[in-house]
Amino acid sequence: MNKITQDKIYNKAKEWILEAGKTIRTKINDPIEIGAKSNPNDLVTSMDKNTEKYFLEKIKSTFPNHLLLGEEGFGDEVKTLDGIIWIIDPIDGTMNFVQQKRNFTISVAIYNNGIGEIGLIYNVMEDELYYAKRGEGAFKNDVKLPPLNQATVLEESVIGLNHLWLCENKLVDEKIMQDLVKTARGSRTYGSAALEFAFVAEGVLEGYLTMSLSPWDFAAGMILVNEVGGVTTNIDGKPIKLLEKNSVFAGHPDVHERILNDFLAKARK
Ligand code: IPD
Ligand code: CA
Ligand code: CA
Repeated sequence: MNKITQDKIYNKAKEWILEAGKTIRTKINDPIEIGAKSNPNDLVTSMDKNTEKYFLEKIKSTFPNHLLLGEEGFGDEVKTLDGIIWIIDPIDGTMNFVQQKRNFTISVAIYNNGIGEIGLIYNVMEDELYYAKRGEGAFKNDVKLPPLNQATVLEESVIGLNHLWLCENKLVDEKIMQDLVKTARGSRTYGSAALEFAFVAEGVLEGYLTMSLSPWDFAAGMILVNEVGGVTTNIDGKPIKLLEKNSVFAGHPDVHERILNDFLAKARK
């Protein structure tokens, strides 16, 4: 994608994500319809649906050839990586949105033939916009984020992960995950995968890992983390498949290597 096209799409994506976030902030105390999807804790609201429909309408009227892969399913059925695809999570952290009215994001990624061109993650209530354009680095509210090139050790790192992986589960040995948490300086759970990716890019988390995410959870975050020199793989150290569910591990290169070799290699069931 040439720079003119990249900038044109970025400018629209930025305008729409800020506008969508403003609408959510304005309506944050209005009554909302809350439903459940795969299980009683997998929430969806009228706000998730309306936000995705807003992007659908904007994208299709401005860029009729672009495709939309959105969590709530109003977009296209995307089966291949051909063409320009917007991958959108209209609200990442819906449980936080419902219960806390904070710590949720809108995540928007634009891929061209499978290459991540633009990623935006908007922390709505904080009015903090993280974005990256391929080859230009990553930014938070237009301030460039420094590259993750300072040597770092796990013992001085803060790692993002869901507490569930410290309990008995089918995918990883919880004892090894507990060792990981004890070895790191600290661990945090924010409840929005996209926000945790943005924090890795910002260098306030040295790693974020989880066992199952969907494309809309990680598509924008991967672009941000890659632009600051971070590493993003699945928990086996293999490349993430963009259109599938994956385990995900994003981090500072030093910390990523250490956790992969000393913990995850042994933890996988
Ligand atoms: C969820 C959040 C959460 C992660 C879940 C996701 P949603 O997204 O990102 O942090 O642990 O796996 O499904 O449902 O709030 O968009
Ligand atoms: Ca999500
Ligand atoms: Ca969502």
